[in-house]
Amino acid sequence: MDEILGNVLRLVGLNNLATLRKLGDLLPGPQANPFLGNLVNLKQTGGFQHYLPALHQQYGSVVKFWLGPSDLAVSVSDIDILGEVTNHLSVRPEAARKLFGWMGKESLTFQKPPETITTRSKFFPLLIGQSLQYLCSATHDRTARMLDGWSVRRDAIDIKEEFSNLTLDIVGSCSFGQEFGNTNLGQEIRTLFKHILATSQQRLEEVVPPVWDVKYRQWNQDVTRLQECAGELIEQRRKARTLNERNDLLSLVLNERNDNGEQFFSDNEARSSVLTFLFGGFDPAGSALTWTCYLLATHPEIQALARQEVARVLDGRLPELEDLPRLEYLNRVIKESLRLYTPNPVTMRLVESDIPIGDYTIPTGATFCIPICVIHKDATIWPNPDNFDPDRFLPEQEQARPRYAYIPFGMGARGCVGARFGTTQVQLMLSMILQRFSLTLSPDQEIVSQIEATILQPKFGLKLLAQSTSSSV
Ligand code: HEM
Repeated sequence: MDEILGNVLRLVGLNNLATLRKLGDLLPGPQANPFLGNLVNLKQTGGFQHYLPALHQQYGSVVKFWLGPSDLAVSVSDIDILGEVTNHLSVRPEAARKLFGWMGKESLTFQKPPETITTRSKFFPLLIGQSLQYLCSATHDRTARMLDGWSVRRDAIDIKEEFSNLTLDIVGSCSFGQEFGNTNLGQEIRTLFKHILATSQQRLEEVVPPVWDVKYRQWNQDVTRLQECAGELIEQRRKARTLNERNDLLSLVLNERNDNGEQFFSDNEARSSVLTFLFGGFDPAGSALTWTCYLLATHPEIQALARQEVARVLDGRLPELEDLPRLEYLNRVIKESLRLYTPNPVTMRLVESDIPIGDYTIPTGATFCIPICVIHKDATIWPNPDNFDPDRFLPEQEQARPRYAYIPFGMGARGCVGARFGTTQVQLMLSMILQRFSLTLSPDQEIVSQIEATILQPKFGLKLLAQSTSSSV
């Protein structure tokens, strides 16, 4: 009931809405339906990765659209303006709450400064150092098992599904411990997590939560149960008194102390944190790996160069962390893939005070969009932007480009905290795949992108034929 009342009250927050409408009307952008805004257009075009490029093409580098009757969104693709304003934008908007509210309100994503600055500074060290070593051994073990399965397959393999399962297993074990996939609780978390993500994108498209819809109510129950399961895991971990002997993320988070030696994260914060990391760590990396394999399968000459480098640098060994900087060509391939098929096509902030931009004002209360997918295809910065060309990331070319031309991990005060962790995941998995298999696209595979739980994925999966190479590890 509270939920319904809250939404009605939000809907009638008329004073703010009137100002938002007045200033919003002055901004360039399409006509909007008074109740649905441009949500229907967004859906019809197939999601932000199609809608935003079309809007910017038509209206220029500042464009508005409405995510419902009261949620004004303004997308800015000019990287000089972004460089100036994003450092002052450090709060996530209502749209993010709709999409990620299931992580729990204590998630660092919803914190505001100064709290978020302290929390992020606590998390950065947790996601490098020993976590990367942990990640490396979990990736060796689980990727090898997946590839053993591929070696007996003669049919096409849907790698979107394979990588989604693989990255969830790996990040699950980095977050909750090696036993994550083998316990009932771990299995339940895994299943609930997948159910929740399967329809979470719909939450953005709802003007009011459809509490009359059975599927929506089931979704809410799943969210509650996921929180309970993560809470049970924390309780088990505390009772087992093995925190000091373990270095999975949950133990590191529970062990973290403030300056007075007291526990830094409350149990609720720890619970939201591991769910945030489970999501942050699994879906973008799965998407990055999927699209990179697609690009390699459709560019055999680039695939061959990457494989030769992997064979030369690793000489038949499994990749270790210290090998990764020497895989220079492979790293350029990954960067170029993150440009072309950037896993998060858009990221958002709340506008907390009016932002003057040239003749316009982006009003307080608006959702500020950073259209990563548009910036990555700007033809004035990226000649032939749709071509797959890893050499765009040769050092001299990278240095010649403006600072914010390439932002797959976002930018400013809310940039990704797991960039190094995510890149390492993809480097390790991709080099292991190239050591053992040559990839080609299944002839009947149709490629259409769509956004699932904010992440870019191939709508109809991605079937590849994987042929064993002679230099298998
Ligand atoms: C290839 C892999 C990844 C990509 C492309 C990626 C991309 C992004 C992007 C674009 C954002 C939004 C940044 C912004 O608003 O400016 C983000 C936020 C975030 N990412 Fe990642 N990410 C990846 C991997 C990871 C991993 C491995 C983790 C954790 C283990 C992670 C945790 C997070 C968190 C917690 C946030 C929210 C930060 C905040 O709100 O302060 N990400 N990521």
